[in-house]
Amino acid sequence: ALIAMTGCTRITLAWADLEPNGDAATPPVLGSSEVTVTTPAQWQRERVPPLRAAFEREVYGEMPDDYQVNVLERRLLAEAAYGGALYEYRLQGAITFGETVNETKPFYMNVLLPTGVDQPPIILMETFCPRWNTIPHEAVTKIDGMSDCSGNGPIAGLMRFVFGRYIATPPLEMILAQGYGVATIFPSEYVPDDSKAGLAALEALSNGHDGARWGAIAAWAWGYSAMVDVLENDPATAQSAFISWGHSRYGKSALLAAAYDARVDMVIAHQSGTGGASLNREKRGESLAAITKTYPHWFSPNYADFAGREAEMTVDQHQLLALIAPRPVMLGNARRDVWSDPNGAFRAAQGADPVYALYGRAGLAQDRLDQWKSDADLAFWIRPGTHGVVEEDWPAFLEFLDAHKAQPSGV
Ligand code: GCU
Repeated sequence: ALIAMTGCTRITLAWADLEPNGDAATPPVLGSSEVTVTTPAQWQRERVPPLRAAFEREVYGEMPDDYQVNVLERRLLAEAAYGGALYEYRLQGAITFGETVNETKPFYMNVLLPTGVDQPPIILMETFCPRWNTIPHEAVTKIDGMSDCSGNGPIAGLMRFVFGRYIATPPLEMILAQGYGVATIFPSEYVPDDSKAGLAALEALSNGHDGARWGAIAAWAWGYSAMVDVLENDPATAQSAFISWGHSRYGKSALLAAAYDARVDMVIAHQSGTGGASLNREKRGESLAAITKTYPHWFSPNYADFAGREAEMTVDQHQLLALIAPRPVMLGNARRDVWSDPNGAFRAAQGADPVYALYGRAGLAQDRLDQWKSDADLAFWIRPGTHGVVEEDWPAFLEFLDAHKAQPSGV
């Protein structure tokens, strides 16, 4: 994974190059020329269903028709950890495609609830490293044989050096002290981030169904919904706001989760790149050819077929952002992280903006990449540096959540 991840930092462009450019026209958002959308209700009725169907067909593969999350076990691991109480759940999903129902492997979720906060907003996290790295408490159940980012050995040290202080472990005390809870799963526990084992798990889950195969990005997006399912049925968090947070590949999944699940109240997608916030039609950054070759398990096989003919796609990623409107979205970026294409993400935010306007929301409140406004509904953050989760990122994420008061959206 480390070798694959270093691909992110290979290109360097000057800051001046990261301005919106005009080489790929932003496709219309509100509909084709036959459909003029004038109200949110019309947008939901006429545009959302065909856009979702197109994303499933062309990019992510089919989403399940239905699912259930079964709680196999729930335990309090520690009454006082990082400023809160630490819980662990053992879960299993039953995924329905058409007539068939298949079970996921059991997987764990860890939850930290800040002490003394009623119904705290919960940051749902999927990370590169297993749960016991995200929450490095000795009581968290580890899974044998799963590679991790623990300790101070050379690999962990190198990873933090390249991808930033918070790549494995977020600043939990800071997050809890500001009144936020954390829930985390490591989605490789049910669909491994590996082309062979990942494809086998995906095929087993959609076994018997002949639609476009579910991709791992979509299966991990389901993981965010699974977390919401459990938490909204827990009296301690039933009224909480839920924020999907993800970096890079999990930023793609965090966006997709919000686009399909209205119970996700806000999104923070950091450096989500191709297949996330960046336009497919944008020429810079990671191409469809590159992403589908290296990560064949991430998307529907149809996505690879559009490599080199991106202009023939009927959707682009600004429409994924539009599917999240009017809920607040923060897009995190770095100036030299050209592989994740901040420019394409900015133009996607511009393309989604009219749907926020339809809801009477300000949407993207900036016309340059470097005019961060934490209270904007489409908040675009760019900092110096490269790919990773560094010291200044988490204060910015929390500033965005504070600015929006992290309320349930009621959408
Ligand atoms: C690779 C991949 C990106 C992805 C990134 C990450 O660089 O090409 O699409 O976002 O890994 O997950 O860090």
